[in-house]
Amino acid sequence: MFKLPENLLLGVATAATQIEGGDTNNSWYEWATIPGHIKDGTSPLRGNDHYNRVEQDIALMASMNIQIYRFGIEWSRIEPEEGVFDEKAIAHYRHELEILKRYKIKPLVTLHHFSNPVWFEKQGAFENPLSPMKFLTFVSYTANALADLVDEWITINEPNIYAVNGYFFGTWPPGRKNDFRALKKVYANLAASHIASYLEIHRIRQERGFLPLSTKVGFANHLHVFSPLYKWNPLHRFSVKCMDTAFQDAITRAAMTGISRFPVKALPKKVGNISIVPGRYYDFIGINYYSRGAVSFLKDGLYPRVPLNDLNWEIYASGITEMAKRMYDEYLAPIYITENGTCDNTDSFRSRYIYDHLKQIVDSGLPIERYYHWTFMDNFEWAEGESACFGLVKVAYETQERTVRASGEFYSKIIEKKGVDQALFNEYVAHTSYNFEKR
Ligand code: BGC
Repeated sequence: MFKLPENLLLGVATAATQIEGGDTNNSWYEWATIPGHIKDGTSPLRGNDHYNRVEQDIALMASMNIQIYRFGIEWSRIEPEEGVFDEKAIAHYRHELEILKRYKIKPLVTLHHFSNPVWFEKQGAFENPLSPMKFLTFVSYTANALADLVDEWITINEPNIYAVNGYFFGTWPPGRKNDFRALKKVYANLAASHIASYLEIHRIRQERGFLPLSTKVGFANHLHVFSPLYKWNPLHRFSVKCMDTAFQDAITRAAMTGISRFPVKALPKKVGNISIVPGRYYDFIGINYYSRGAVSFLKDGLYPRVPLNDLNWEIYASGITEMAKRMYDEYLAPIYITENGTCDNTDSFRSRYIYDHLKQIVDSGLPIERYYHWTFMDNFEWAEGESACFGLVKVAYETQERTVRASGEFYSKIIEKKGVDQALFNEYVAHTSYNFEKR
């Protein structure tokens, strides 16, 4: 059982392309039109029709006691063609922010979450040396237009997942396999894009009269626990080091401090008139945490007999604070868990998952100030399509009907009661258990 500390706020996270629907102008729409790219053949075009249902969806969120909401702005809507900005799209997001304000839900706005406008993708996306400047143009416009309504910003979501899936595994756009040359450039351009955006958002907010400390900017790191399959095996331990560096440590350091090392290429010296020099480019440590891997020789696998979710990801709750501690020791700033959640298609263990992860957070004593559960409602789960369910709210895509799951009820009661007591535990968690069999 646990009591939530006063300074820890609880909420949910989503991403524009996964929920909005109706946009044919982004890289994921195009990617999904090619057979074989999305496991169940669905597309983000349908999504949750959230663009038209913003009012009802936020009302539902409020009815679940949600205190904070992380959501994305779709770049391809704001800048449908290079240099052309759509005022109607900005008005839409301003309206959304006004609704959140009405319900007293504090927003955290993500500027890039995996998808690009088609025009940007066609120009080589973040492989293009001009990409940080192009991204900054969008960020400048958007931050100027929303500065009065948003204090907290995420520049880029999971640069490592975006780069590795797109340029190493080739399972995401642009679908390139083992392209290390591109990967190194993409890493560097993403880090530079984050740094330039960090400085630009602060500049804009200050120009508008906001106190510097009221603006919080960071990015969402995807952090995975890499652990040696056999601790005694030096090759496994060495592999853990390599994977940590290649997948997360180097890109994290480059984006947070401007200092690059292998495999991140040297960062560009300038983005427009912004100089990219070593510094401190974060006001919080953003962590997306999901799972752990058992590493053998340069291969990420599973330990035997561990609890698994419906995508066969290990459920390893203490990893959330292991990673938070590691980041805190190195970067010393308040921690935001910008995503944490699980694929549980039948909602049979999500409540236990939430309980276990929140308990770790509370017991750790670390300065964790935000927890955004991934995700509010089932949505388009990238290459998995609509069939992988991460939502506290179930969505019937045909009718767009939303139904709060038991885990959603549990989460809202945790917020209401500011913790979990024995009665709440008995009602939602005691009878549940994890699954240990592979699907
Ligand atoms: C991403 C989300 C995604 C979630 C579950 C994270 O890596 O930011 O967009 O839906 O993981 O796979």
